[in-house]
Amino acid sequence: MALALPLQLRDRLIVLTALGFLAALAVAWITTRHVVKPTEQLTAAAERMARGDLASPVGVAAEDEVGKLAESLDIMRQRLQAALEAIERTNRELESRVAERTARLGQLLRKTISAQEEERQRLARELHDETAQTLAALTIALDRARDGLDRATPRALEQIGLAKVIAERLLAETRRLILGLRPMVLDDLGLLPAIRWQCESYLGELGVEATIEGDPAAARLPGHIEVALFRIVQEAISNVARHAEAEHVRIGLARDGDTVTVTVADDGRGFDAERIGREPGHDERVGLIGMQERVALLGGRMEIRSGRGQGTEVVVEVPLAEEARA
Ligand SMILES: Nc1ncnc2c1ncn2[C@@H]1O[C@H](COP(=O)(O)OP(=O)(O)OP(=O)(O)O)[C@@H](O)[C@H]1O
Ligand SMILES: [Mg+2]
Repeated sequence: MALALPLQLRDRLIVLTALGFLAALAVAWITTRHVVKPTEQLTAAAERMARGDLASPVGVAAEDEVGKLAESLDIMRQRLQAALEAIERTNRELESRVAERTARLGQLLRKTISAQEEERQRLARELHDETAQTLAALTIALDRARDGLDRATPRALEQIGLAKVIAERLLAETRRLILGLRPMVLDDLGLLPAIRWQCESYLGELGVEATIEGDPAAARLPGHIEVALFRIVQEAISNVARHAEAEHVRIGLARDGDTVTVTVADDGRGFDAERIGREPGHDERVGLIGMQERVALLGGRMEIRSGRGQGTEVVVEVPLAEEARA
């Protein structure tokens, strides 16, 4: 009996120790969870922010240091979100201002081009109706004067002959000027005859042979498109005359539904189209840029295929449906 008591006590002690140990484990586990869980939440919130999610709150409820850290992180999140929204707002404003300015510039360019066309048309008419007529009359008058001067000295006759040559040259120059300003044939007969005239006038005397292929479906186009395409082909022809050293040029005008395609292809020396904008003196070259701008105003596209020794092909495509924009 004396031994039984200590044994019972020992068993109880063992049970109590085990319980105490389990209780200590439970307390340790609860305490650890209490500290670790907010830290895990904090880490998850920081990762969300790193991924760009600034809308979800940090959401860590703790009174200790981790809680303070979470609060600071949430303030930082809100400030970042506000700053980002401000940047996006400013970006949107800037984009719409750029779009508005671009549209206004486009309108201005359109107006400038049509004012320039009107002025050219007016000048061409005046030169045609006044200057060219007067010069033509002068050559006739000189002819008559010479015929009537039976007893004039050979020198006087020679001078009159010379005056006539000068008047004829002036007349030819004036006609060329009129053609460059605004060939009346463009308004009267359309693009193809105007292009043909242009080729004869600029390429004929250089010995460059021109083939012109015209699609009957593109015989007449809306006026402003004819004028724009004429200016584009005019510049392309002038480039062939000035730079290409070509023997032959092929000009094509085709229409496929609502798309008009103009091609000017020469077999000349070609050039490196990629390098044009980087070469010295490129600022003064406005021909290709002007072509590009006219095409853009019509909502079309332009492609230059060229390479040294490979000739040059300029392809312009414009939609007829865009005509309402002009
Ligand atoms: N058909 C072509 N063949 C060979 N080179 C060409 C041709 N078209 C253009 N080029 C080259 O591209 C350059 C740029 O042409 P662009 O029409 O822009 O300017 P430009 O003719 O020199 O001057 P402008 O402003 O009077 O037109 C030319 O200087 C020439 O070197
Ligand atoms: Mg040019």
